[in-house]
Amino acid sequence: GHSAGHAHGSAHAALLPASQPARLCSAITEQDGQEPVREFRLAASQSSVVLDDGGTERVWAFNGRVPGPEIRVTEGERVRVVLDNHDIQAGVTVHWHGIVLPCSQDGVAGVTQDAVKPGERFTYEFVAGASGTYWYHSHQASSVQVEKGLLGAFIVEPREREGGHAQEEVVLIQQLNGTYLLNGSAKGAIIAAAPGTKVRIRMINAANETDRIRVSGASYRVMAMDGHELYEPGLLERHEFRMGAGQRYDLLLQMPAKGKVVIGTETGLTVTLGEGAEPDLAANQSLFDWTRYGKPDPSAPLSQVRVDRSYTLKLGQNLFINTINGKSFHEIPPLIVREGERLKLTITNASGGDHPFHLHGHVFRVLSRNGQPLSGTPVLLDTLLTHDGETYEVYVQADNPGLWMMHCHNLMHASMGMSMMMNYE
Ligand code: C2O
Ligand code: CU
Repeated sequence: GHSAGHAHGSAHAALLPASQPARLCSAITEQDGQEPVREFRLAASQSSVVLDDGGTERVWAFNGRVPGPEIRVTEGERVRVVLDNHDIQAGVTVHWHGIVLPCSQDGVAGVTQDAVKPGERFTYEFVAGASGTYWYHSHQASSVQVEKGLLGAFIVEPREREGGHAQEEVVLIQQLNGTYLLNGSAKGAIIAAAPGTKVRIRMINAANETDRIRVSGASYRVMAMDGHELYEPGLLERHEFRMGAGQRYDLLLQMPAKGKVVIGTETGLTVTLGEGAEPDLAANQSLFDWTRYGKPDPSAPLSQVRVDRSYTLKLGQNLFINTINGKSFHEIPPLIVREGERLKLTITNASGGDHPFHLHGHVFRVLSRNGQPLSGTPVLLDTLLTHDGETYEVYVQADNPGLWMMHCHNLMHASMGMSMMMNYE
């Protein structure tokens, strides 16, 4: 049976149909592949960390570190991660946020597996299919466990690098017991980068709130969102953007001949890139030439996107309860889909606040915002930031059978009702 977890882990055990199609989540269909195997270990335990502002925090950590160790693989590799739970009483799991993998490996306690209890082990195995910036986190009582520290970056490098090499940096924003950290630092991060160097910054918002990111000292381009490349220049080329909880943005910038580049977050913490010189904000304000753009757009034009089935989801709030179509948790009927179908989800935010809406196991394409079709480069996401009053249409190709969660990635909202399932019949 399923473990008695907390928050949205356990709530979803109740969503399973009486005749639970367990086979959908038990088979690893890619088992016999010949891919190179990369093996990692994550050990969850109660711990304490000393932050660089002098404070000590009691945490729950993978391998004793906050954030947990970065996992970095190359696309096409088979990833094996052995999870041991030493002493987290409620049990833990690992969910691979944004990675398209078999349902049995999705790490959702009460849905795809039981939570791993103290002294127990679970081995995850999947092929890292698409390069990009992802992250991992516990999905047992996740509103509690993520804030306690059970998370980390998961990077899938492309097999071949195009457009030359850039220095790569991960910037992970998290809330640890309510305190904002950048790459585990309570004071902000400092990254060495030589003048003229191209730097790719993989930003991960692992906190519960939308962040407003500002870049000063250099022009930049958004190269990817949620790990998926953008194919044309012009998109989001401005000095500020909003990153929803759970989302990732890959930025590319070139260090100016002199001075620093500062990436500011709404929390007041900053990432400073440079060698210690004073910022020269006038330098390098023109966008540099970056030749990877102009690649063909592999997706179908919007006019050719056909839809077999449509659902409407209205995100709302009712006192302290977060709702979808006026209901919460197990009262929300699961979306039923059939393999091969093309789905359109119309998502309306009528709640007064931001809701970053996350779908497991799939990548969706944003078709329109407030009735305006998105033109230009396809925007492929696993987490859609919606603001109050907005309506989005997104397109999902139903090609990964299983039982999949959909929820707000403000994990407090998810634990207060804004969680549901998409189930293959
Ligand atoms: Cu990153 Cu269901 O979550
Ligand atoms: Cu929300």
